[in-house]
Amino acid sequence: MLEIDILAVVPGLLEGPFSHSILQRARDKQLLQIKVIDLREFGVGNYKQIDDYAFGGGAGMVMMAEPLAQAIRQQQEKGPYDEIIYLTPDGVTLNQSMANQLSMKGRLLIICGHYKGIDERIRERFVTKEISIGDYVLSGGELAAAVLVDAIGRLIPGVLNDETSALTDSFQDNLLAPPVYTRPAEWEGMKVPDILLSGHEAKIDEWRYEQSIERTKNRRPDLLKNEE
Ligand code: 6GU
Repeated sequence: MLEIDILAVVPGLLEGPFSHSILQRARDKQLLQIKVIDLREFGVGNYKQIDDYAFGGGAGMVMMAEPLAQAIRQQQEKGPYDEIIYLTPDGVTLNQSMANQLSMKGRLLIICGHYKGIDERIRERFVTKEISIGDYVLSGGELAAAVLVDAIGRLIPGVLNDETSALTDSFQDNLLAPPVYTRPAEWEGMKVPDILLSGHEAKIDEWRYEQSIERTKNRRPDLLKNEE
């Protein structure tokens, strides 16, 4: 069982993503447990303030240390976390190998950033991993959390079956997946490669491997250079 708690500023954004398809099945099978915590509940004063102006000036607000610290400590009372992850565009870019590693943990806390980010002291005091989902900026960390949890959740042992196996995914061995086809064998004059209809399992595997290499060379040569 992997337990994931998510500290969110806009919890409503996370109502849908985990309630369908593979992630919902993982939860039904008790392999994954997700809890979304509204950071606003830990806000300061009548207005439940969670952000304030940046020291030194400049545009944009900063998420205050105290509401975050209170929320984190309250969750820690229920047990220790294996990782406390802060989602931020200046984190390490997420890849399949990180998702694999995180899927084998027991308890994770994910902090969704907003505005100009969180007070640096929270990163120093609590955060054990800082992750970005790519080189572009989102308006908040919630959608990044949905991406991260989906990538991790499907890799938890027992979640996928033979039909949905992760073994043939792109990136699983640092290669892109080969092209795939389904019926009909001819569509609008376009034919499925003969080899796939041949029934020669070994030859089909070989063809798929060659296609993977070819695709990776053409589209993502960087994957062939840096092996993990
Ligand atoms: Cl984790 N957060 C935000 N706000 N923007 C991002 C991101 C995360 N990863 C890429 N862009």
